[in-house]
Amino acid sequence: MSAGPMTASPIRAASLNEPTSPQLGASPVGMEGLIPLAGVRRPLPLNTLSPLRYPGSKRRMIPAIAELIEANVPAPELLVEPFCGGASVSLGLLEIGAVKRVLLADLDPLIAAFWKVATTDTEWLIAAMRREPITVERWDYWRALKPTGARNRALKCLFLNRTTFSGIIGGNAGPIGGRAQLNYKIDCRFDMNGIEARLRHVRKLADEGRIVGVHEGRWEDSIRVALDVHAARGWRTKSLVFYMDPPYIEKAGGIYRRSFSERHHRALAEYLNGSGERWILSYDKEPLVLDLYGADKMPEVRRFAVPHTYTMTGTRSRPVPGREVLFTNLPQVPAARGRPDDTES
Ligand SMILES: C[S@@+](CC[C@H](N)C(=O)[O-])C[C@H]1O[C@@H](n2cnc3c(N)ncnc32)[C@H](O)[C@@H]1O
Repeated sequence: MSAGPMTASPIRAASLNEPTSPQLGASPVGMEGLIPLAGVRRPLPLNTLSPLRYPGSKRRMIPAIAELIEANVPAPELLVEPFCGGASVSLGLLEIGAVKRVLLADLDPLIAAFWKVATTDTEWLIAAMRREPITVERWDYWRALKPTGARNRALKCLFLNRTTFSGIIGGNAGPIGGRAQLNYKIDCRFDMNGIEARLRHVRKLADEGRIVGVHEGRWEDSIRVALDVHAARGWRTKSLVFYMDPPYIEKAGGIYRRSFSERHHRALAEYLNGSGERWILSYDKEPLVLDLYGADKMPEVRRFAVPHTYTMTGTRSRPVPGREVLFTNLPQVPAARGRPDDTES
């Protein structure tokens, strides 16, 4: 694809609350046919953020995803996150009102148990968390434990997520601060009051029916479960949207407890290509991804690059090309801004 029009008009500098998307500017990503889409940032109260820190959290993409959803009718009755991890996107979209309800799902039994217990057995989880000494000895205990019940799985997930380097609950990552505990202490990311407030918010969302449920399983199963839920409630056709955020292609084996190989990435692309359901997919910009979701293979799919916004000199911020991409089969692009080659020079 020609890069000509993309180099003609620079991306406009934008203040925090100013729309930055999708300015079709001097972004090198345009060469791959990706439309820059940042969305309008809306502040999220701290207690509405995920109780989990998550490697690869897509919180930064919430404004762009919201803009995609809001450009389309009907408004979704249900958004489903089959690779939910820390569920930061679901929680953010609920908070800003871009979606009414979400269904969370993940293959990892610790993650799924965390969300099940957080939404239904919240007081137990809060009390158990508060009883827990945040020490390297307890880190060793939880790391070695093979929990059987949902409660212990949920607590193991929360404890290790908040005390392990980068929030990694699998792999070889060690405790925050290392065994020597010199520069950082293991409890430096374990603000119990803040986590409690977030857990209570999650419970409130579940009580209000805005988190409709939690499913443990592979994405394929979660899609089936979601279709059943949607059908059983009699919601309008096309009012179901899947947000898919599969594991990283690079380094995924070291971060998540469930591996996702090239074969899995290909199977997901094949499913989405033939799917009549509405979906939004986020990835890091990797050659395999650009190939699997390229215009030659999926002509109907829209492709976006999500710029990062760095604050400049304290007053202005400047979007710069990021590594993250969004693909969707939603029919409308925000504000009919067209495709890269449609832009004025
Ligand atoms: C990139 S993370 C999701 C991060 C999340 N979007 C966030 O913002 O916190 C990917 C998740 O997919 C899960 N996963 C891995 N293989 C899976 C599979 N086959 N089906 C469903 N979930 C899977 C992992 O356990 C991990 O939690």
